[in-house]
Amino acid sequence: MASYDVIIIGSGPGGYVSAIRCAQLGLKTACVEGRDTLGGTCLNVGCIPSKALLHATEMLHEAEHNFAEMGLKGKTPSVDWPQMQAYKDKTVSQNTGGIEFLFKKNKVDWIKGWGSIPAAGKVKVGDDIHDAKHIIIATGSEPSPLNGVEVDEETVVTSTGALKLNKIPKSLVVIGAGVIGLELGSVYARLGSEVTVVEYLDAITPGQDAEIARQFQKMLTKQGLKFVLGAAVQGVNIKNNKATVSYKMRKDESEAEITADTVLLATGRRPFVDGLGLDALGVKMTERGQIDVDARYQTSTPGIYAIGDAITGPMLAHKAEDEGMAIAEILAGQHGHVNYGVIPGVIYTHPEVASVGETEETLKKAGRAYKVGKFPFLGNARAKANFMGDGFVKILADKETDRILGAHIIGPMAGDLIHEICVAMEFGAAAEDLARTCHAHPTYSEAVREAALACGDGAIHA
Ligand code: NAI
Repeated sequence: MASYDVIIIGSGPGGYVSAIRCAQLGLKTACVEGRDTLGGTCLNVGCIPSKALLHATEMLHEAEHNFAEMGLKGKTPSVDWPQMQAYKDKTVSQNTGGIEFLFKKNKVDWIKGWGSIPAAGKVKVGDDIHDAKHIIIATGSEPSPLNGVEVDEETVVTSTGALKLNKIPKSLVVIGAGVIGLELGSVYARLGSEVTVVEYLDAITPGQDAEIARQFQKMLTKQGLKFVLGAAVQGVNIKNNKATVSYKMRKDESEAEITADTVLLATGRRPFVDGLGLDALGVKMTERGQIDVDARYQTSTPGIYAIGDAITGPMLAHKAEDEGMAIAEILAGQHGHVNYGVIPGVIYTHPEVASVGETEETLKKAGRAYKVGKFPFLGNARAKANFMGDGFVKILADKETDRILGAHIIGPMAGDLIHEICVAMEFGAAAEDLARTCHAHPTYSEAVREAALACGDGAIHA
């Protein structure tokens, strides 16, 4: 069989980006993928389809709530669920097809099938064994199971099933107030489902800056989502096509139940490494079931590397992409590197929530002196015109040096606005550097500048 410089197992954002970069850097590259289409979880059953549904339902929300006020009168659109699904599926196939095109353009071979590693330097797919100087594992993650909860992907679903429900449920219980639960929960809330989110902790979105999390919960509650916090789910029972979720309140151990048409289990994901043969190879794993790698992404077996959700760190497509490029550069003799201190996180609800770097909580814990520059979107002309005045930008900067340490945005286009702050952080900028940069008027970006101004002598429009 063919012999390669690099074989990558898995074609999600980590794997496909790495494959393209390896090829661009002159390495003979193949990517193994067993799904019918390239792109992994993100493109097929994750980021991309969920964003299509988020976009469609956001438009519906606009039509229902804001059109009349803008003088756009007429019938509010009704939902054609099969057509919305078709739009979502088309979005997915356009994107997966795009990766196939990029593979051809960059001369990356797609080896179709599920791969395993019988020995360092060998990748087995079906009956074929391919040689590779370097093997990169980019096999991603799968939904974590929860004791007492059996997923059938019809009544009790993971994010995969939630993207293609046969019909819009009248009621939906979401287990877990993390990113998946809130994104998909808000899709169905906008489609008219009664959505209740049951969360183990006392706040939503663990790890998020607490002030942002509180504001976020308020806004979602206004949109009709209900929250039961501090509740540990014990199990789900299905009877007559209805699911009953039982939970125990952590503060007093009291027990309660809630019944719904559909239950979405969204309590986290775990590395997917089944069938690779890592045990037999003796590849070292962490206590949390991730592949253990060194700073150059090498596993305990020389010549075998791992990136993305299969290793430690946030389970984010863009983190995997950056690692994919870094490992390609390392294998090509360059100095690939990922700055884990500046990886943005975005929740694509309406409004979006975006964050990067430190939170107030992590800074307090580290005993670091910091200052807060905050600016509400209510003071931003563009946001007000577009019914997006709720929310704010918050920049955390070192008290002495003014260096930006973190930023948190809840509001319009937060997922795009965050990136000027990421660039600033990469350059070690002070809040004053952002504050002194001219920002076009009227844009949402002005709110970022105003928050930076608020770290100094004060914002203008607050
Ligand atoms: P998550 O880790 O974000 O949230 C899971 C939530 O479930 C936590 O709040 C946890 O406290 C709660 N939980 C755990 N056990 C529970 C129990 N027994 N009862 C009640 N609540 C319980 O996980 P999620 O949302 O499933 O997402 C998985 C991964 O995918 C995350 O790493 C996330 O960052 C990533 N992702 C990122 C997206 C984005 O960047 N926009 C979109 C979707 C997923």
